[in-house]
Amino acid sequence: MASTSSSHSFTTCVLFLFFLYLSCFFNNLDAKHSITNTHKHKHQHNHNHIHNSPLNPRLYRAFLALQAWKHVIYSDPKNITSNWVGPSVCNYTGIYCAPSLDDPKITVVAGIDLNHADIAGFLPDELAFLCDLSLLHLNSNRFCGIIPKTFSNLTHLYELDLSNNRFVGPFPSVVLSLPSLTYLDLRYNEFEGPLPPELFNKAFDAFFLNNNRFTSSIPRNLGKSKASVMVFANNKFGGCLPESIVNFANTLEELLLINTSISGCLPQQVGFLYKLRVLDVSFNNIVGPIPYSLAGLSHLEQLNLGHNMMSGIVPVGICELPNLVNFTFSYNFFCEEEGICKNLTSKKIAFDDRRNCLPEKALQRSEKECSAKLEHPVDCFELCCVEGGLGNNVSAGSMAIPPSATAPAAMPLSAAPLVAPSHP
Ligand SMILES: *[C@@H]1O[C@H](CO)[C@@H](O)[C@H](O)[C@H]1NC(C)=O
Ligand SMILES: *[C@@H]1O[C@H](CO)[C@@H](O)[C@H](O)[C@H]1NC(C)=O
Ligand SMILES: *[C@@H]1O[C@H](CO)[C@@H](O)[C@H](O)[C@H]1NC(C)=O
Ligand SMILES: *[C@@H]1O[C@H](CO)[C@@H](O)[C@H](O)[C@H]1NC(C)=O
Ligand SMILES: *[C@@H]1O[C@H](CO)[C@@H](O)[C@H](O)[C@H]1NC(C)=O
Ligand SMILES: *[C@@H]1O[C@H](CO)[C@@H](O)[C@H](O)[C@H]1NC(C)=O
Ligand SMILES: *[C@@H]1O[C@H](CO)[C@@H](O)[C@H](O)[C@H]1NC(C)=O
Repeated sequence: MASTSSSHSFTTCVLFLFFLYLSCFFNNLDAKHSITNTHKHKHQHNHNHIHNSPLNPRLYRAFLALQAWKHVIYSDPKNITSNWVGPSVCNYTGIYCAPSLDDPKITVVAGIDLNHADIAGFLPDELAFLCDLSLLHLNSNRFCGIIPKTFSNLTHLYELDLSNNRFVGPFPSVVLSLPSLTYLDLRYNEFEGPLPPELFNKAFDAFFLNNNRFTSSIPRNLGKSKASVMVFANNKFGGCLPESIVNFANTLEELLLINTSISGCLPQQVGFLYKLRVLDVSFNNIVGPIPYSLAGLSHLEQLNLGHNMMSGIVPVGICELPNLVNFTFSYNFFCEEEGICKNLTSKKIAFDDRRNCLPEKALQRSEKECSAKLEHPVDCFELCCVEGGLGNNVSAGSMAIPPSATAPAAMPLSAAPLVAPSHP
């Protein structure tokens, strides 16, 4: 620990001297073009020779940032950064310049695209000098460590793609302070711990959090989000899908909760997400019936409920959805398919109904498995995340509720229409 920090401060010191040296060098070399021009520029707006100079002050700061970054790149097998030398940052591979948003006469670094570069290293604090950056795409590299707090300076950042790297630490809350951020992709990293509730109040179009180590439940009071795509798959959230998911109704088109340790019943509010095209809750511990409300999802194309512990009937309203092309509900305990659900082939819907308790179908569970499940009906009201109720901390172990514990409201499994689970 101590040696790490002392070597770190040594590095910082060396870096500092290096920059001091560089800045003296460039001040001497380019003084007329860069630093002094800031002042000239302020006073002579019609002069645009700054545009032609190799280093306006913002490009100069970008130069410092990129050199600091290059310094902490330890492996670059495709030699992407080998031309990151000298002051012409706009010629560096992966660096994109554009006129500044606040002054079109000034060229600034507006985008960085190092997707699939396979670079190993980390992100230095100095990246904060790139305060004109709109796009940062680092998909499929080997960057590690944490996202620097100084990223809060990147107030124009619009798209941040850090996917498929080796970033660690808690959810990088600094991204929540970026006013322009619209697209956030953190998938395939090693972020861990809970998601901050504020994440769901941001005006992001899309966020991808899948394949990390996020834990704890999805916050129960989800704010009004503007997201159209939310991918949570392959994390260890646990808890229920909260009813407040309905707050996403006006925008949400894809909800992917695959393998997120979600338990409890599906709230009927999922059926109010009227724009949904893709709903995938497979590989969880979800129990109880399919909410009838799902029959209202007229845009739904893909529905995957597979690999859960759901039971009851497969309602005809879902099989009749006009846009459904793929309905997977294998590896559950459904015991009846209503109407046309028996023959989805006739509707040209791809389906998978294996490993349920469907008496007329092949490849089902054994009678023993099915009757064991039927002996323990599920009471969604008791189980689920009712606002102010039991909360969303339902552990997988509490699934098999003994019959004596089921309240009078518990319906027989085959009478699944739990429209509004209003408790008497
Ligand atoms: C990168 O540069 C090194 C050293 O200059 C060279 O040996 C290697 O072949 C280069 N790799 C690629 C992919 O160009
Ligand atoms: C940068 O690229 C431009 C256009 O390709 C070229 O004209 C210019 O000489 C390059 N500058 C340097 C310093 O390499
Ligand atoms: C943030 O950006 C400004 C320019 O907008 C720059 O002067 C400042 O040094 C940056 N702050 C940090 C912490 O890098
Ligand atoms: C589910 O996610 C865990 C990590 O949280 C992973 O180890 C496991 O392989 C995933 N299971 C499936 C079926 O994808
Ligand atoms: C239907 O969806 C399942 C689960 O996502 C997938 O495995 C399967 O390949 C899909 N079938 C077709 C025909 O697209
Ligand atoms: C399902 O429907 C198709 C076409 O309508 C028909 O050919 C097939 O016999 C039906 N299968 C069953 C099991 O009823
Ligand atoms: C969930 O409940 C268990 C046992 O009741 C407790 O140990 C755990 O800390 C709870 N988890 C959360 C996230 O509240």
